[in-house]
Amino acid sequence: MITSTNRKPENFICDLLVCFVRQVEEGYPECSSQFIEKQLKFAVDSGDFTGKEEEIFLFYPEPEAKLKTKRIMLVGLGKKELERETFRLAGGLVAGQALKTRTQNMLVVVPVDLDFPSDEISECLAEGLLLGVYRFRKYKTKIDEDEKGEIKKIVFYPKINASAVRKGLQKGIVAGECGNKVRDMANEPGNHWTPVDFGLYAGALALKPRMKCKILEQKELKRLKMGGILGVNQGSALPPRLVILEYRTKKTAPTILLVGKGITFDSGGISLKPGKGMDRMKYDMCGGAAVMAAMQGISMEQPKGINVVAIVPATENMPGSAALKPGDVITMYGGKTVEVLNTDAEGRLILADALAYGVDKFKPEAVIDLATLTGAVVVGLGHHRTGLMANNDELAAKALAAGERSGEPLWRLPLGKEYSKQLKSEIADLKNIGGPAAGTITAAAFLEEFVGETPWAHFDIAGTAWDFTEKSYIPKGVSGIGARTLLELVRAWK
Ligand code: BES
Ligand code: MN
Ligand code: ZN
Repeated sequence: MITSTNRKPENFICDLLVCFVRQVEEGYPECSSQFIEKQLKFAVDSGDFTGKEEEIFLFYPEPEAKLKTKRIMLVGLGKKELERETFRLAGGLVAGQALKTRTQNMLVVVPVDLDFPSDEISECLAEGLLLGVYRFRKYKTKIDEDEKGEIKKIVFYPKINASAVRKGLQKGIVAGECGNKVRDMANEPGNHWTPVDFGLYAGALALKPRMKCKILEQKELKRLKMGGILGVNQGSALPPRLVILEYRTKKTAPTILLVGKGITFDSGGISLKPGKGMDRMKYDMCGGAAVMAAMQGISMEQPKGINVVAIVPATENMPGSAALKPGDVITMYGGKTVEVLNTDAEGRLILADALAYGVDKFKPEAVIDLATLTGAVVVGLGHHRTGLMANNDELAAKALAAGERSGEPLWRLPLGKEYSKQLKSEIADLKNIGGPAAGTITAAAFLEEFVGETPWAHFDIAGTAWDFTEKSYIPKGVSGIGARTLLELVRAWK
């Protein structure tokens, strides 16, 4: 949907022409586009526009200017130091306004004379625009009049540094599409996105170069003694899946393992959740969606010198008559036994199998898992930061940096033997809950038992996968978080 052109904006036929403007202390803001200079001065003189962050001014071109656009939009970039997020937010703002004005095609004049790298400007603008135009309307047979806007074409015009702008644009497109893919999967209700659908999605990606997938079904899971996934699946009428998608370059290249929680609906099982808000538990597969979408991004970019394996354990957590019961003891992949004291702590059970299996089979250099794992992380960090826990400082630093660059910030919480001790069971190796204190950490401490010495980082996205800090490019509801951070981690891997 986004391309670039070197045709002068003056000659470009479109519904909307977008220019970005920095705010200044005195006088008139600078603007790289001469054809709006006069109107910019009018707008500033009349106090209609100053270039403040998140400020927008929409007007019609003067007839004598002979522009071929229907409208012009000025977008403020503020006067604070520019960040990647400034451009994402600006992109999202433009997207929202463009939809409102029923814009079908727009020309974005990429501001290249700012104190910021041109490639990152276009990258982040593209991300903000793509994420900002996202709507999920699949199940509406009738769309409200004011919801009908649909953008068909966005064209970037780089006045200078065209090749850098195009390079950044490409990165932004991939990342934006990744985020939207997560949203597409997560927004599907529980009866439309089931464990089988994770397999189908991976199967389609496996057609891309260097990708292959393997989908383990119930029989295979039994043979491998994956008691966690099988146990959680017992109460569901739908069969489980363990979806494995590999991106392989060279045998000698390092392998990164990504694991995502794929609970397509979490009723809590026999430890049933309260009814209020239970529908949201269709989102309990956001970790799996993020991991799969990241693989889509990787398949588009085809990075060299790295192998990436994604594993999604997928099942519903339902209270059918064969369901796990509180007090049951199960044996996990690798032989550890777990006393299931609360069937609602199911994420860690399916992840433990996937982590242990992935580490065993692929001998990765690092493992990262994403999961909507605990309500406690919402208490601790709210909806603004993902909880990060890791057994390795270097990997934690990489994760924090990738999150920062992606506008998906993380906050690290500790691990340690005091927390692990809370998981000691009277009758098995472990119990699956660690009591009311430090719920996010004890959930991670449970996972830690299954990765051995491999550097591992765990993202608890229960507070950020939906209801994430609302922003111009982050809608209410599902945020699509995770995939862009993973993509960034892979891009920066050394
Ligand atoms: N999927 C939930 C975690 C969750 C809760 C995500 C609320 C988003 C919002 C997870 O499976 C769960 O139920 N966790 C329990 C663990 C508890 C039983 C130890 C929780 O957090 O209440
Ligand atoms: Mn649960
Ligand atoms: Zn869950």
